[in-house]
Amino acid sequence: GTTSDVDRDQLLALAERVAREAAAEVLRLRREGVEVAATKTSPTDVVTEVDHRSEELIRARLLEERPGDGFVGEEGESSDSSTGVTWVVDPIDGTVNFLYGIPQYAVSIAARAGEQVVAGVVLDVVKGECFTATRGGGAFLDGAPIRVRPVVPLDQRLVITGFSYERSTRVAQAQAVARLLGEVRDVRRLGSAALDLCYVGAGRTDAYVEEGLHEWDLAAGGLVAEEAGARVWQGTGVGGKRLVVAAPADGFADFAALVERVGLTG
Ligand code: IPD
Ligand code: CA
Ligand code: CA
Ligand code: CA
Repeated sequence: GTTSDVDRDQLLALAERVAREAAAEVLRLRREGVEVAATKTSPTDVVTEVDHRSEELIRARLLEERPGDGFVGEEGESSDSSTGVTWVVDPIDGTVNFLYGIPQYAVSIAARAGEQVVAGVVLDVVKGECFTATRGGGAFLDGAPIRVRPVVPLDQRLVITGFSYERSTRVAQAQAVARLLGEVRDVRRLGSAALDLCYVGAGRTDAYVEEGLHEWDLAAGGLVAEEAGARVWQGTGVGGKRLVVAAPADGFADFAALVERVGLTG
């Protein structure tokens, strides 16, 4: 289905209000002390009680305002939509940073109309930076429009990446990233995919590449990047999972070719 511009702005306003409430709660709970609730697929893949509390709060607030919407969150059961709108939520993106007190993690909330993401917010919990976008309406940081960086030669590009939770895949990725390092300015691993994508949009990096992202990592940040002038492409990575490449649309093709040349693709 399609949603009008007015609907998109309303969805975004709701998403932003709920993200702010969840972020405040995440900070408050962290001050009370965080326990690792469990590891999921590997020792790197952690989840805390706070991830669950944040997702429960977000789900409750969104669905009390718009009963009938669908919901997909990282930590819980998904539910179907009877309105055509589905919320796609990462209650804490960057849980390992959260656990260690590294101030780089975010609440990510996107609204999907059918298969198309139409509004998204990525709120940096500690720094308070708020990235927003609506489809066709542009991308913003704290209300000011953002734009991707101008294109420079490959050897002057800064690249953000990340590594899989799965051991053999991360080793293969690291070997490919070692080759990438010889071709670009430098590489960063910041630990929050949603913020990484927003950083492409805000011109804080020249490119982002990572394998193994899920819908909730990608939905809001991907829209922010696209609306700021990036191309966000999905393919298959060296470990066989979803590979995401985001870069300014103009310089996209040569970066994508480099990603393939160093062996990050499957
Ligand atoms: C993770 C972060 C990380 C990325 C992982 C994600 P989480 O999300 O975005 O930067 O490398 O692929 O799973 O588990 O902290 O929400
Ligand atoms: Ca996780
Ligand atoms: Ca995530
Ligand atoms: Ca998460």
